[in-house]
Amino acid sequence: MASTPGELNIIPLPVSVQVAEGSFVITSDTVIVATPGATPEACLFAQQLAPALGFEMPVEEHADATPRKGAICLRLDPQPASLGEEGYRLSIQPDRIDLAAYRPAGLFYGCQSIRQLLPAEALSAEVANDVEWSVACATVEDKPRFSWRGHLFDTSRHFFTVEEVKRAIDLIAFHKMNVFHWHLVDDQGWRLESKRYPKLTETGAWRKTALGVDYGGYYTQDEVQDILAFAAARHVTVVPEIEMPGHSVAALASYPYLGCTGGPYEVRPDRGITKQVYCAGQEETYQFIFNLLDEVLDLFPSQFIHIGGDECPKDEWSACQNCQARIRQENLQDEKQLQSYFIHRVDEYLANRGRRMVGWDEILEGGLAPGAVVQAWRDVEHAKAAAMEGHDVILSPTSHCYLDYAYDKIPTELAHGYEAVLEELTAEQQAHILGIEGNTWTEEVPDQDTYDYHTYPRLSALAEVAWSPAPQRAWESFSMRLQALKQRLEVLKVKFGEEQPAPTG
Ligand code: ACM
Ligand code: ZN
Repeated sequence: MASTPGELNIIPLPVSVQVAEGSFVITSDTVIVATPGATPEACLFAQQLAPALGFEMPVEEHADATPRKGAICLRLDPQPASLGEEGYRLSIQPDRIDLAAYRPAGLFYGCQSIRQLLPAEALSAEVANDVEWSVACATVEDKPRFSWRGHLFDTSRHFFTVEEVKRAIDLIAFHKMNVFHWHLVDDQGWRLESKRYPKLTETGAWRKTALGVDYGGYYTQDEVQDILAFAAARHVTVVPEIEMPGHSVAALASYPYLGCTGGPYEVRPDRGITKQVYCAGQEETYQFIFNLLDEVLDLFPSQFIHIGGDECPKDEWSACQNCQARIRQENLQDEKQLQSYFIHRVDEYLANRGRRMVGWDEILEGGLAPGAVVQAWRDVEHAKAAAMEGHDVILSPTSHCYLDYAYDKIPTELAHGYEAVLEELTAEQQAHILGIEGNTWTEEVPDQDTYDYHTYPRLSALAEVAWSPAPQRAWESFSMRLQALKQRLEVLKVKFGEEQPAPTG
């Protein structure tokens, strides 16, 4: 008999589930059998469970890992090609678990489903005694709705340690999300080490608090490499965001020649939009940006590089001789077109190096090169305009996806109900929607507990929007499964917030 996917406590909701009698129990005799390409996922799965189990399941590699008694079998299989790059087929029987996928990412996601189906204690960092490690028998077939299932973490407005960043990545991967949008740069702090421009972190990473003490921090390139390896093992792409031409005071404070006025500038202790932006007239600014992007591209393998592009006041450009000269030379009409000129040059620089530029929806102003990706945040009209112009689009509207907003403004139920479709678009235009992102900005998020409170469970809800088939998604089902997920988040020491009913009327 058919089951409903909601019968298994998995978030995000799988595509299809068939529940059966009995359960598989992991014991110290359980082995993992993996086909050659599946060994990294098998080892990570064993390592993830080892602290709670008190033993690490041995991994045996076999060319044809046929399912066998007492084993958890992870197979890369050319057959389930219909499940695509990220799908998986999981069969849990009393005497074996068989997990097959076309690609390693699918195996990783299948393992996350098993981790959710085990008792909550399986996620503990300490040995949990007297727990039967049982997984209820079922068959699951699953694959994502969107290829871009993202989370923005702002580590500029407040600094978070390497361990905190890794934990954030681990948590999104547990939810089968695959893009970590790392907001590394803003007016309130520059967080990425540059070898060529060391003052970016000597000066730009620090601000004076109201109490007069230095606040800040940054990630060395070695630390970034470490974080990237951690993310890659979890099939998470790290997309760095280097803001320009606005939101760049931390760079101006480090190298004042980059601004129209020459400063002085100060890394900002407070929030809000500033008029102090990069000078878009002088060639020195472009040289700086291109040199810096060279370092960014060397570090980050992501095909997508985010350059911000939002909230850039034009006041200083209007008063700047260099900016005005550039407008005349390039036959631009005004400062808006100067912004477009700036973005075009950066886009061309990235495209020539095989990367794709992503920017906030302001980058649409004044025209945009076709390969650029637009992240719509202000409202749905910008997303529509971008898709109609043939751009790929990421949806993270303030209405549903801004996780730093209060719960009474964006209750979990509202986030979960986000439709992520744009009406009035043709099927071809709809196909430009790569997916969605849940954004945790940190102006008012000083520490990990506050991050947790804002981010979960609303990001759990958005993970379901991004992964699960829209017609099957229902709040009642989600809120039931969320009870089980919360037990697991508690074991993971996530100080999640309280979901609240959506406002009526
Ligand atoms: C944004 O929230 N300024 C992208
Ligand atoms: Zn200027």
